[in-house]
Amino acid sequence: MRVVRTTDYHDMSRKAANVISAQVILKPDSVLGLATGSSPIGTYEQLAKWNQKGDCDFSAVTTYNLDEYRGLTHDDPQSYHYFMRKNFFDHINIDLANTHVPDGSNPDAAAACAQYDREVAAAGYPDLQLLGVGRNGHIGFNEPDDVFSKGTHCVNLTQSTIQANSRLFEREEDVPRQAYTMGVQTIMYARMILLIASGKDKAEAVRDLIYGPVTPRCPASILQLHHHCIVIADEDALSLCPKE
Ligand code: GLP
Repeated sequence: MRVVRTTDYHDMSRKAANVISAQVILKPDSVLGLATGSSPIGTYEQLAKWNQKGDCDFSAVTTYNLDEYRGLTHDDPQSYHYFMRKNFFDHINIDLANTHVPDGSNPDAAAACAQYDREVAAAGYPDLQLLGVGRNGHIGFNEPDDVFSKGTHCVNLTQSTIQANSRLFEREEDVPRQAYTMGVQTIMYARMILLIASGKDKAEAVRDLIYGPVTPRCPASILQLHHHCIVIADEDALSLCPKE
């Protein structure tokens, strides 16, 4: 695991965008695994700027997002389908037909998740998987548990995640209680993983994922076992970690 310390969110976003841009330059038909949340928004903004300047071409790129709330239509402003268009896809030259997000509008969880697993596998799994991390160490929507999850599956969100994500909804009651998420095993199939974290509220999760035991109680800790994982985090997120 390589750890890159940045001064702040902006610095983190530019460095993460540089890594993703290098991946796309070196392999124009890259498969990218993408994430939602506040963490990647600055990275997406930077990549969109470079794309508009002609420096980073997404025309041959395919994407697979980590997760989606169950029960929201693709046009629901709270859905991750909508988030990805608004924050990234609408600003770059990607072919929308090559972008994929689990189908939260399909009430048949088993069918929706199996279909997504088939698609990710057929694409050969991501060359690079971008990840944020939840305050409790979750990745995607893989919440702390007794075991590591495998493929895409339906999860019940924990109260801490519902509360953390409620800032994006009008009322906490509006946050969906379930989501479809890629499993930890699928995430680990990515050839490179880039986890980004910013802010003091991520400090415990970042310390535990880098230095704690590898345990499903902190799902992100599994990344210690990945052969090519880069953590780009700012001073605040690294404030509980030793300065190396
Ligand atoms: C959500 C997403 C995760 C994301 C996490 C942290 O639960 N499903 O993929 O990493 O929130 O979000 P943020 O970056 O907003 O802190």
